[in-house]
Amino acid sequence: MRIAIIGTGYVGLVSAACFAELGHEVIGVDIDPKKIAKLKKGESPIYEPGLEELLKKNLGNGRLSFTTEIRDALPSIQILFSAVATPQGEDHKADLKAIFAVTQSVADSIDHDLIFVTKSTVPVGTGKKCEEMIEETLKKRGLSINVPVISNPEFLREGMAVGDTLMPDRVIIGINDDTHAKKMMEELYKPITRVGKPLVFMNRESAEIVKYASNAFLATKISFINMLTELCEKTGANIRDIAHGMGLDDRIGPRFLHAGIGYGGSCFPKDVKALMALAKEYGILMPIINATDEVNTQQRARFIKKILEVLPQKSTVAVWGLAFKPKTDDMRDAPSADVITALIAAGHAVKAFDPAAMETAKGVMPKELMYASSPLDAATDSDAVILLTEWDEFRGVDLKALKKAMKGALFFDGRNVYESKEVQSLGLAYLGIGI
Ligand SMILES: NC(=O)c1ccc[n+]([C@@H]2O[C@H](COP(=O)([O-])OP(=O)(O)OC[C@H]3O[C@@H](n4cnc5c(N)ncnc54)[C@H](O)[C@@H]3O)[C@@H](O)[C@H]2O)c1
Repeated sequence: MRIAIIGTGYVGLVSAACFAELGHEVIGVDIDPKKIAKLKKGESPIYEPGLEELLKKNLGNGRLSFTTEIRDALPSIQILFSAVATPQGEDHKADLKAIFAVTQSVADSIDHDLIFVTKSTVPVGTGKKCEEMIEETLKKRGLSINVPVISNPEFLREGMAVGDTLMPDRVIIGINDDTHAKKMMEELYKPITRVGKPLVFMNRESAEIVKYASNAFLATKISFINMLTELCEKTGANIRDIAHGMGLDDRIGPRFLHAGIGYGGSCFPKDVKALMALAKEYGILMPIINATDEVNTQQRARFIKKILEVLPQKSTVAVWGLAFKPKTDDMRDAPSADVITALIAAGHAVKAFDPAAMETAKGVMPKELMYASSPLDAATDSDAVILLTEWDEFRGVDLKALKKAMKGALFFDGRNVYESKEVQSLGLAYLGIGI
């Protein structure tokens, strides 16, 4: 099939490369000319394992191309995906400016039947608004063509996005009464359903809510375990054992029960807040979602307070990990930004290392932050090490060499990666979360 993906960010670019890999003809469109220039050369503007290989391969075989002009993409396509960003806007609501800009461009230029698919995370009712915008414009243009708007929310995880897109747990499609669109989506996703992955149809409103519900539920699991960490610290319990004991119950499961500094990134914080805003708009109470957000904010603040209370004045601090999670260079709402800003504001010097996010970090971090070439380079002559992202590179550091390289002996583990006894046995003070 011939498709266009509008927005070549973390979601749109991976989708474009994967749809091409699955045999479709794909045009990726983005308003950012620098991104498109890089993509045309087969270079990925983001760090995502396996993505650049797919890009190069499918540019080479002619199934994938890129442009900055949505009008250039429209004439030949059957399906259009809108994968533009929906960041946090006013009053924590999702900012839908990019979505509506894409919708309007399509409505202004399209001259044949097209299926308009929203892949971005949008509040319930957005698909209806987009459909109305398109219908109104087509009426003004005197055109009688069919442009249904359907919802196909994305569930990929950064760092595992290629695998998640080629082998998703499920594909959710929200369609209101359009059998042609349903058939087209079945055709598009055949390479996925052929390997037994479910394509789940529901109405558009339900599909729009599924995405927020899933993210809010996962965030709630994280906040639930984090909520118990202070109690563990005050009573001599160990949150790892609590999570292990709970997770062995298969009604609960072990995943997303890993205590730490809390969730960050481009999705959980904004989607939890957008759901809270939606509840407010509809006059509905969703106290669990409010608590999830509150615990997460407290957890970050509590860890920063703990660090600042213990650090000697004018310390030199090594930070291991800047990205909000491993295997990505995404710095959106990364806890590291709050930690580093607080450290620098308190008069400490900070040197950080991250395997992939140092370039992205330069755009958002205080200018005083220094960058290192390895975990040990960051830790050399430091009073303390703070582990903030659980990259594999930080799991197997030679702790003896670390102790030797450091000036001081404080080890703050914001992700509970290390065993306290192991770190303490080498003469370092271990400060984890809920341990
Ligand atoms: N990042 C994730 O892990 C993830 C996972 C699931 C869902 N989502 C959702 O997917 C959507 C996209 O997220 P993302 O992380 O890929 O965002 P992103 O910021 O990485 O990418 C958005 C892209 O859209 C482009 N863009 C903006 N306006 C445009 C326009 N008018 N025309 C063409 N291009 C335009 C931007 O230049 C950018 O490249 C969001 O709604 C997000 O909530 C993200």
